Amino acid sequence: MGRHRADFQYEIYLNGMSGAVPRLPTDLTRLEELTEQRLGPGPVGYVAGGAGDGSTVRANRSALERRRIVPRMLRDVHERDLSVEVLGRALPAPVALAPVGVLSIMHPEAETGAARAAAAQGLPYILSSASSTPLEQVAEAMGDAERWFQLYWAKDREVTRSFLDRAKASGFSVLVVTLDVPALAWRPRDLDRAYLPFLHGVGTANYFSDPAFRAGLAKPVHEDPDAAVMHFVGMFADPGKTWPDLAFLRENWDGPIVLKGVLHPDDARLAADAGMDGVVVSNHGGRQVAGSVAAADALPRIAGAVGDRLTVLFDSGVRTGDDVFKALALGARAVLLGRPYVYGLALDGQAGVEHVLRCLLAEFDLTLALSGHTTPGTVSPADLADGTD
Ligand code: FNR
Repeated sequence: MGRHRADFQYEIYLNGMSGAVPRLPTDLTRLEELTEQRLGPGPVGYVAGGAGDGSTVRANRSALERRRIVPRMLRDVHERDLSVEVLGRALPAPVALAPVGVLSIMHPEAETGAARAAAAQGLPYILSSASSTPLEQVAEAMGDAERWFQLYWAKDREVTRSFLDRAKASGFSVLVVTLDVPALAWRPRDLDRAYLPFLHGVGTANYFSDPAFRAGLAKPVHEDPDAAVMHFVGMFADPGKTWPDLAFLRENWDGPIVLKGVLHPDDARLAADAGMDGVVVSNHGGRQVAGSVAAADALPRIAGAVGDRLTVLFDSGVRTGDDVFKALALGARAVLLGRPYVYGLALDGQAGVEHVLRCLLAEFDLTLALSGHTTPGTVSPADLADGTD
């Protein structure tokens, strides 16, 4: 018992013999609705909402739902191993936690709770630049566990350099550079409530604690918080960046660099030409370009273009274990899990995130086994009904 991730289901059934049932649903697609019922409309709208009328959020889901798995039989799936190598790191499963900022609007345990849950499952935690907890504090809570740092590439070079130095010193191994926010998108659910946590100094912890950022302020943050917020707003995104600017990051980061938000094969080729190590095929969970191509529809062409040169990761729409399987079949090496773990955090703190991760991995393990596989490495387009895609 307990050898395979799938065995979580027996743990649940056995607990049931003493009357206990899971505190949260095991169908992870149900978490959003539950969070809508339990949390205030501002925070829920911020997390669940998308750009424009939400069509990209819906497209992400339907692109995954449309793909159907064709299971194979009699293949000896008794022993299974979910581990994969990603960017030179050995991971117990092809899953990492996506960078999501401002988690304190969801639960007081915030990024620390999510990071501890990731560490408990051995999965990498990707900390957002826009976290509500300083990166050093999150690192401290994680011990030796695998952590990556997501960079919002600020206008100010010295602040960017300082973030990279701090992340390195705190044991973050991979740099994930998010490219799809040269500006904040049109998000009606937030606009209708005029809800933007950053303007209240939430999600600015890494900036307000940064020596290079503080050097640009006339007065200390606590003496003039509004001026600090405005300084942050002015540098947070930089719509002027171009491909040659990546050389600066390459010079200032020794480990692997992954570009997040790539949807066109030519951009993936440019990433490889610029000496990057990987891309995350992602449309930011439908939060940036309304009407954007679904991330799962962009994935096969990108994997085909650069799969031999770059590590191709995927996010935007992953909710269940079979979604993870489908993403691998479409060419991803591993996936980033976004909103589901954030809902888990909102509903039950660190324990809620652990529940979500255990459910996802159990379901993925079972999908592998029931489809005729014993490891992620053998999953291919041939496992999908439209395998020629
Ligand atoms: C995000 N995402 C994100 N990405 C990033 O690079 N830095 C960030 O700070 C954030 N912040 C953030 C906040 C919230 C509330 C959400 C929902 C998402 C995007 C995230 O990393 C990932 O790309 C998406 O969450 C994937 O879409 P799904 O699967 O969550 O729908």
